[in-house]
Amino acid sequence: MTDSMQETQFSAAANRDVEADYGPVTDWSTDFDILDPEYVVRPEQRWAEQRAECPVAFTERRQRTWLPVKYDDLSDIAHDVDRFSSRDIAVVSPFDVPINDIFPVPPISSDKPTHTWARRLLLPAFGPSAVEKMTPITRGLCEELIAEHFSDGHGDVAADFARHIPVRIIAQMLGVPLSDEEKFTGWVVGTLQEGFQNLDGAMDVLGEMTMYFAGKVAERREMASEDRPDDVLTLLIEADTDEPMSDEHLLGTCFLLLIAGIDTTWSAIGSSLWHLATHPEDQQRLRDDPSLMPSAIEEFLRVYSPVTMARYVTEDTEFKGCPMQEGDKILMAFPAGNHDPDMFEDADQVLIDRKKNRHFAFGSGIHRCLGSNLARMEMQVAVETFLEKVPTFELADEDAVTWTGGQVRGPRCVPIKF
Ligand code: HEM
Repeated sequence: MTDSMQETQFSAAANRDVEADYGPVTDWSTDFDILDPEYVVRPEQRWAEQRAECPVAFTERRQRTWLPVKYDDLSDIAHDVDRFSSRDIAVVSPFDVPINDIFPVPPISSDKPTHTWARRLLLPAFGPSAVEKMTPITRGLCEELIAEHFSDGHGDVAADFARHIPVRIIAQMLGVPLSDEEKFTGWVVGTLQEGFQNLDGAMDVLGEMTMYFAGKVAERREMASEDRPDDVLTLLIEADTDEPMSDEHLLGTCFLLLIAGIDTTWSAIGSSLWHLATHPEDQQRLRDDPSLMPSAIEEFLRVYSPVTMARYVTEDTEFKGCPMQEGDKILMAFPAGNHDPDMFEDADQVLIDRKKNRHFAFGSGIHRCLGSNLARMEMQVAVETFLEKVPTFELADEDAVTWTGGQVRGPRCVPIKF
């Protein structure tokens, strides 16, 4: 695909006015806005009101969109893959057609049968032994970041620590240069974080990254197979698949694997450390009893779940009395489901020793997160290493903390002192 073809294809498709100013929300049941600044920072109260009044809210901002907030409803939708397709998973779509028709990112934007083989071929790359191999490397990286940024009594745990961990780990697993870290992080910011407000920027990113991976794939194919490094890029180009894998599929998967784990895990590590900075009793408890670490990590995942996905309604249908039309969007508010009091006792409270915690921060059903083992390992190693190396810490400036929201929610600036 040439530069100009790429540009024409994306700009022709980018015809929804996602950047319009829709004004403040007056009714959260019929006109919600997930990009509302207050909702981004404190969504729990809204979810509670919604659960009581209207468990599936609606809006026509940007496009017809439904927002279920109850755990069971979200689970039902996630498992009903015939009526609720993954071909449009962006919470705000820049395109008038499903994203999978313009820029497929399999397996996350695929339905069956493509989804089945597109996912299966990736499983070994993210299984327990692959993750175990990356554990000491992650620990070394965390120690380096702490030595570099936290040696003089202060630092920013989101910007100087959490932000760098997942991108450097996935770059190594995928087989792309670590020196391109800023480029990769820029792609994530330009699409998942700022793409809603700056559509042209997001289109540029899609074009740039397609050319980038096309170059990397070509280099790999030119190598003799015995010279190819043992990494995910090689696994992809050598894959023996049920259907022939198109270049479009291959490049979309490369992009997905690179960005799926970056700001998600960056957010999860950042909010875990934000929690510990703002809840000294939990910080002290974890320092005194590190055996609580696994349950604490699960609880941080539940309470501060970063990821909201979307589904595309494939036919006119009804769900919980809501008249859905073909082409409507449904927001898979997994974070809201994780605060449902019908599923979790004291759902809005953080209990780092919570025993029963069947959260779905990683989703549910056939698209459940493929990188969950990796994400859990990165979170655990990051928080453990931080507590080992940095003495008791607290926020340096509460007003300086910032959060990003939408598809992925998490803190982006968390200055601490110790
Ligand atoms: C704390 C960090 C993470 C969270 C909260 C998270 C969350 C999620 C969620 C909710 C889904 C389901 C999507 C859906 O239902 O449409 C998902 C899918 C996926 N995630 Fe993650 N993720 C995280 C880290 C990672 C990492 C590190 C990777 C590594 C590459 C990754 C790769 C993927 C992939 C490939 C899928 C698509 C699976 C499929 O469609 O079959 N994620 N993730």
